[in-house]
Amino acid sequence: MGNKKIALVTGASSGMGREFVLQIHKRYPNLEEIWAVARNTKALEQLRKKVPKLRICAWNLTSPQDLQRFQELLEKEKPQIKILVNSAGMGIQKTVEETGLEDLWNTVQLNCTAFTAVLKICYPYCHNGSQVLCLSSGAAFVPQPGFAAYAASKSYVLSFSRAIRKEWKGRAKITIVCPGPVDTPFLEKMGGKEHMPAYKKYFLAKPEAVVEKALKDSEKGKELSVYGYSVKALRVACKILPHSLILKFL
Ligand SMILES: NC(=O)c1ccc[n+]([C@@H]2O[C@H](COP(=O)([O-])OP(=O)(O)OC[C@H]3O[C@@H](n4cnc5c(N)ncnc54)[C@H](OP(=O)(O)O)[C@@H]3O)[C@@H](O)[C@H]2O)c1
Repeated sequence: MGNKKIALVTGASSGMGREFVLQIHKRYPNLEEIWAVARNTKALEQLRKKVPKLRICAWNLTSPQDLQRFQELLEKEKPQIKILVNSAGMGIQKTVEETGLEDLWNTVQLNCTAFTAVLKICYPYCHNGSQVLCLSSGAAFVPQPGFAAYAASKSYVLSFSRAIRKEWKGRAKITIVCPGPVDTPFLEKMGGKEHMPAYKKYFLAKPEAVVEKALKDSEKGKELSVYGYSVKALRVACKILPHSLILKFL
């Protein structure tokens, strides 16, 4: 195994992925490189001005050719991935009827297939308690009409990550990050804040706070990182109440 100790962050060009890069840079100065995966090279170049050890990996995670490049680079460099943040994701807040087939397809491809591929590709390079953070969502706890594919994809992330937390025990510490709405460009991409239900706007969290808590929870080896009382309350409600009842209020 090579000696280079790195962090690898997907979705690093924007929102929480970008914030993870900034906080990892400050919090873990011993890391030699931070590999930043996203398609928007300009945004990554801007980020490198703040984080000189950033290595730009301009890959589209839904492209099999780029996943091949990803795998080949790891095989060539054999780094030790001390921190892996699987943050790339997308969501469309519309009914299935209103959503185009391509958007539905891409949501599942990115949030489920690419998410899984990233973990599989990185697995051989995670050792001795590597920190692995998987970005799920409060939407994972219950089906969400008007946000169906996204919520279901995040349930997949939650379920898959819980399973590998057990499989990877002793090798890596998996933490599943389940925020409620967070004020990032994600909200504009999924249709704009104005289309969000009022209760979600009320509980909008800052990416800095969600990411800081996630890194602290990951250091402690926690299974879930849930930021804010509203999402914690939703989680408890989803455990004790029938989903059919909760769905009446969504
Ligand atoms: N914001 C929220 O309210 C919220 C709440 C709960 C959970 N989450 C989850 O948290 C994660 C981060 O969300 P965010 O708010 O930071 O979103 P964001 O600001 O929209 O960032 C999404 C990131 O994913 C990358 N990405 C999208 N498609 C990609 C592709 N095909 N290949 C590679 N990278 C791709 C984007 O980079 P490029 O466009 O440059 O490729 C971008 O860096 C997501 O998984 C999201 O589902 C978000």
